[in-house]
Amino acid sequence: MCGIIGYVGNEECAPILLDGLRRLEYRGYDSAGVAVHDGQELRVLRAAGKLTALGDALGRNPVHGATGIGHTRWATHGKPSEHNAHPHVSGNVAVVHNGIIENHVELKTELKASGRVFKSDTDTEIVAHLIDLALGRGLELFEAVRETLKVLRGAYAIAVLSKDDPSRIILAKNASPLVLGVGDGVMLAASDVPALLSHTRDVIFLEDGDLAEIRREGAKIVRVDGGPVERPVTRITWSLMQAERGGFKHFMLKEIHEQPRAIEDTLRGRVNLDEGGLEAGEMGLDAETAKKIRRVVFLACGTSYHAALHGRYLLESLARVEAVAELASEFRYRDPVVGEGDLVVAVSQSGETADTLAAAKEARERGARVLAVVNVQGSAIARAAHGTLYTHAGPEIGVASTKCFTAQQAALTMLAIHVGRSRGALSVEKGRALLQELVEVPAKMRETLAGARHVEGIARSIVHARDALFLGRGLSAAVALEGALKLKEISYIHAEGYAGGEMKHGPLALVDRDMPVVCLLPSDSTLEKMLSNVQEVRARDGVVIAVLDEPSVARDIAAHTIVVPRAAEAVSPLVTSVPLQLLSYYVADHRGTDVDQPRNLAKTVTVE
Ligand code: M6R
Repeated sequence: MCGIIGYVGNEECAPILLDGLRRLEYRGYDSAGVAVHDGQELRVLRAAGKLTALGDALGRNPVHGATGIGHTRWATHGKPSEHNAHPHVSGNVAVVHNGIIENHVELKTELKASGRVFKSDTDTEIVAHLIDLALGRGLELFEAVRETLKVLRGAYAIAVLSKDDPSRIILAKNASPLVLGVGDGVMLAASDVPALLSHTRDVIFLEDGDLAEIRREGAKIVRVDGGPVERPVTRITWSLMQAERGGFKHFMLKEIHEQPRAIEDTLRGRVNLDEGGLEAGEMGLDAETAKKIRRVVFLACGTSYHAALHGRYLLESLARVEAVAELASEFRYRDPVVGEGDLVVAVSQSGETADTLAAAKEARERGARVLAVVNVQGSAIARAAHGTLYTHAGPEIGVASTKCFTAQQAALTMLAIHVGRSRGALSVEKGRALLQELVEVPAKMRETLAGARHVEGIARSIVHARDALFLGRGLSAAVALEGALKLKEISYIHAEGYAGGEMKHGPLALVDRDMPVVCLLPSDSTLEKMLSNVQEVRARDGVVIAVLDEPSVARDIAAHTIVVPRAAEAVSPLVTSVPLQLLSYYVADHRGTDVDQPRNLAKTVTVE
């Protein structure tokens, strides 16, 4: 989704804006622009395509000034083009916006009827016109923005810069992220923290309904429909280095290799091996509360949904509590039965996914207790929940989720152990043994990562495949779904994930000698059945790529084997996920796709 940056300070801001936008590239975008106050005028430059195009435009037409706003646009209304790129200007104001104005059609009709001329196809330009009109009625800028917000419906984070006042930027937030950076004699604003870290680690997360003004000296924050409000300053512990590529060709590869650390960080300070349980006060889920849970409902989208399937399986098997996993994008549109007694677990890397956020809020309104399993501190889903279980994977920049996925699997395994222990479904010994297995996962991941070159060799052999299948059973069925999603999203090869037992109910018809079939064969309770499914594939000449911990198991049926260290059934998906990520990565890299920013996709999906 779009990225916003704003700067008011003492330095030339154009390079600062450009750098901030680069750090927001992971959100996905198709055009970019800046507006800089040069002391007299607003200088606006925009370009379609990547930030290099905007950089080139700035090279040809340098702009000077110490107050400015910038934007990367991910098209929702109007195609990706220079004329639809932000900032949009009306009269003396320039506006950048992330989100969607839902009532844009009626507002635009009214504005056109009153003689306003539009230069773009965007919903955002409406905002610029409305502010300009309010200024024309004699309101000063801050109040003009406030008046404008009152007529907008939908999701927005906006930043406004006026030709009449270079000393400040006005900002507002509703359902799209916006965070302020507090420096020494400098203030910034951005859609996400990495854009601020070169300047400051002290940030203020704005809340929905906040209207703010930043000047060099500091920030003023009010409620759109009320008075001043205090928002705490949060010190961010992520280093800028953590948000950079660190020597790897792509962020995705770096993030795949960061998984052992991500799991260690997620477990850190929480695992109590003596008690066979967890220290996780932040969850707001003490033993008494856990005992009263009637049902657990996992809500998530995409990769996070696949982690939710892992959680669902373990909540049932380890905690003996009814559990379901639902796509958040479906859940809220079908009048779900959810309420008191339900624990709703909203799983999201970004913590900003619009569907997951809305579904979690709806469940909370209906009386459910909401637990957010998110990676971004202070994100919208975290704020909407009763409790949080953060995955401490660090910033994930590649659009394809990798380390956040396995960190989610780890967090949800901990949750299942915690609920199981609290309800008496798990003994101390069993809890301890499972936690010990979790603690050993990072070492097993490291061992698996050491075999990356072998996986690359297999990837080369399927680089020209048109389709691929991924099969697993039990917990590995979710790994198969995730493996297929990874391959399709970054390599653009059509891929499907299936529970192995479903093969003979349809997909087997697809199998021939051109079909790579990745089979998950860890030594667990499903192995024997899975082997029968693999035989069915082999009998149709399918190219079996076996992921297993016992090489002899697939000796006669696999064209390729990837051997991983053996792990207990509950945690083996954390290990077997790793070679599947590597396989997708190398296939995509050899096909020459834009691995970190696959076409048509965005890192943070803040529209429904
Ligand atoms: O931020 P979230 O985890 O809520 O995002 C949900 C999906 O958009 C996300 O997992 C998506 O499927 C990944 N990019 C896939 O790699």
